[in-house]
Amino acid sequence: MTAKVIDGKLFAANVRAQVQVQVAKLREEHGIQPGLAVVLVGEDPASQVYVRNKHASTLEVGMASFEHRLAIDTSEADLLALVQSLNADPAVHGILVQLPLPAHLNSELIINSIDPAKDVDGFHISNVGLLGTGQKSMVPCTPLGCLMMLRDHHGSLAGLNAVVVGRSNIVGKPMAQLLLGDSCTVTIAHSRTKDLAAVCRGADILVAAVGRPEMITGDFVKPGATVIDVGINRIERDGRTKLVGDVDYASAAAVAGAITPVPGGVGPMTIACLLANTLTACCRANGLPEPEGLTA
Ligand code: GUN
Repeated sequence: MTAKVIDGKLFAANVRAQVQVQVAKLREEHGIQPGLAVVLVGEDPASQVYVRNKHASTLEVGMASFEHRLAIDTSEADLLALVQSLNADPAVHGILVQLPLPAHLNSELIINSIDPAKDVDGFHISNVGLLGTGQKSMVPCTPLGCLMMLRDHHGSLAGLNAVVVGRSNIVGKPMAQLLLGDSCTVTIAHSRTKDLAAVCRGADILVAAVGRPEMITGDFVKPGATVIDVGINRIERDGRTKLVGDVDYASAAAVAGAITPVPGGVGPMTIACLLANTLTACCRANGLPEPEGLTA
């Protein structure tokens, strides 16, 4: 079997186009422009790239983008004061504090100081609790993107066996909650799981989010299964730097029914879903109906 390739780049472009249409409608019908504020502390090169991409994508769909770049030695009090001012700013509907923060700053404290209604990352403890209890929340962007692609490929996910490999707060745990919300039978596996390959072979949907390059090989995959690769790992191969996922693509694609590539799979969906979440937050803040197909 050769797997169908789930094109995340195309899918993300489609999500961004849907957001753009809704943003234009908000402006024309209500005179409202959604706004996203991104806070970057320090000069971590990877974070700078992410923040630049977020800024460009935000403007592209017609939203307002507010960038706040702070020095690496910014105090916790100053960062908290900035978040409070963004919480109070009616032009800001979404707030994202880029992680990781420098070590002297308490990430949990900072994230939990964001107004949950503006927490477009879905990392605030209130949103984590709301998602866990099946209530309306802001949903973390990467798992939301995975869910959108899975729904598109399968239609209903009800009754399917889903195995999520990885138990991070940002991907593994919320992914499992979302799949449970769509009535999958969900297993969360991780580095300490016994006979991981056998557990994964039980999966109709296999989500790899472990952060270990090419760890999930074809013998972990049930024939015909859908494989979602969340991993983004830089490795050296043949004297070059290469981007690979947590899935060994060639061997997994030979067994799977559908698979996301790296790059061009889950990655582009994260920013697209950040824009979708900002739109959702803006609609909720203004008492307007939420955009269809762009939320969990
Ligand atoms: N750093 C890398 N990815 C992310 C993300 O999705 N959100 C935040 N806040 N920081 C990140």
